[in-house]
Amino acid sequence: GKEITLALIKPDGLVGNYSDRIKDIILESGFHILRETALQLDEDTAATFYVEHSSRSFFSSLIKYITSGPMWVMALEKENAVADWRALIGPTDARKAKITHPDSIRAMCGLDLEKNCVHGSDSPQSAQREISFFFKDVFSGGFITKH
Ligand code: CMP
Repeated sequence: GKEITLALIKPDGLVGNYSDRIKDIILESGFHILRETALQLDEDTAATFYVEHSSRSFFSSLIKYITSGPMWVMALEKENAVADWRALIGPTDARKAKITHPDSIRAMCGLDLEKNCVHGSDSPQSAQREISFFFKDVFSGGFITKH
């Protein structure tokens, strides 16, 4: 059935003017944009969003990067949305993506392992948490209540 995933165009993606190209890819790939908004996270909110990485050495750098400017946040709906969006964005390390997945979004707009210009939820469970984080009205008790 239909699935929802969270997509972020990170600050470097907006600065590099990639939003329109990324949205074209999203729509050409059959996703429906269920919700979208622009926002800039403060450090506390970013730390909550990325809490699973809080003990990693790159955490403070990640928080600085992700709060450095506005992001474009989208809830994308489609059959197999989580895996299909991950496939479109390519590997986390944009430098590797340019070699192994040259047609991926991160190969197009990312720089390296940190500045990889986009995010995609890694599982349906993560997607539910992440979508609820930004769009509180989408889920209620784990079920989609509103389109
Ligand atoms: P994403 O997978 O969207 O969410 C976690 C982010 O942390 C990841 O993208 C990168 O931006 C960043 N990240 C992951 N691993 C590293 C790393 N080893 N060094 C620096 N940044 C990282």
